[in-house]
Amino acid sequence: MQLTSLFVFASALAVTSAMPARPRCSNTTTATATTTAQATPSPTSVSTNVAYTLPSNGGTTPLASPPTGSVVQHIAVGHGVQNYTCTAAGANGTSIGALAVLYDATSLYPGSGSSALSQADWDALTSKVLRTTSMPIDQSSGAASPFPADAALTVEGVATPLPYLARHYFDSNKVPTFDLTPALFKGSKTTDILAPSSADKGLTDEGAVDWLALSDAGGSVTINMVYRVLTSGGFQGVCAAAGDSQSVPYTAMYWFYAPSA
Ligand SMILES: *[C@@H]1O[C@H](CO)[C@@H](O)[C@H](O)[C@H]1NC(C)=O
Ligand SMILES: *[C@@H]1O[C@H](CO)[C@@H](O)[C@H](O)[C@H]1NC(C)=O
Ligand SMILES: *[C@@H]1O[C@H](CO)[C@@H](O)[C@H](O)[C@H]1NC(C)=O
Repeated sequence: MQLTSLFVFASALAVTSAMPARPRCSNTTTATATTTAQATPSPTSVSTNVAYTLPSNGGTTPLASPPTGSVVQHIAVGHGVQNYTCTAAGANGTSIGALAVLYDATSLYPGSGSSALSQADWDALTSKVLRTTSMPIDQSSGAASPFPADAALTVEGVATPLPYLARHYFDSNKVPTFDLTPALFKGSKTTDILAPSSADKGLTDEGAVDWLALSDAGGSVTINMVYRVLTSGGFQGVCAAAGDSQSVPYTAMYWFYAPSA
């Protein structure tokens, strides 16, 4: 008698613990609430205890330093397109702009806390985002806006979604612009160096777009220097004909600096 009831009790426990997710899955109210909460996390601030080190491409030309006294504010993964036009068949495309959505990756920086990635996973993050997440830019000609509604980015194998941080585009004067409302950056190229040969060459194997340092071109708010590093894809292909345009998918890691308070 005692043995039997013990067995029944144990079986009931086994069934309960084997199916913990079932009530949650069948409850749409709870599921919706979870999705909403994950869609609107805020960007993380840098930690004053962490030494954030801008990556090096291993080449002889270093990226220009940020203005004295500046500190990194955000590190973000950008995903979008690099646009080019063609002047002649066989020529390389000429850059005419870019569009990207940037997601805050500050809390994933190796050694920066409980959400941090390993160095290898951090180094591979832009390649992973390029290859495993959807292109956020709407490239159809009839689109009201090429940008999606601001939302966090879920990346396979990364526990916390990356909060939305900024939109990147070229303004009407063709100045590379980053809108991090309320912060804003309008940049001018200071250093332009090749991506390392180990970089992900992109979805069509065209190559990884250059690493850049951009200084303030005037009109920036808060941000005074931006770097584009760990690029994947985005390099122009060889032109088939004059007048062609190319829109090449890419991802990159962007580092934003501001004067220290
Ligand atoms: C789902 O969960 C909510 C919140 O916990 C609760 O109010 C609601 O009654 C549940 N609905 C069902 C069908 O279980
Ligand atoms: C195109 O770009 C590649 C890579 O930078 C370079 O090696 C090549 O010489 C360029 N081709 C032309 C026709 O300019
Ligand atoms: C880049 O190309 C896309 C199409 O792929 C287009 O929607 C967008 O307007 C272009 N943007 C710029 C700045 O050239």
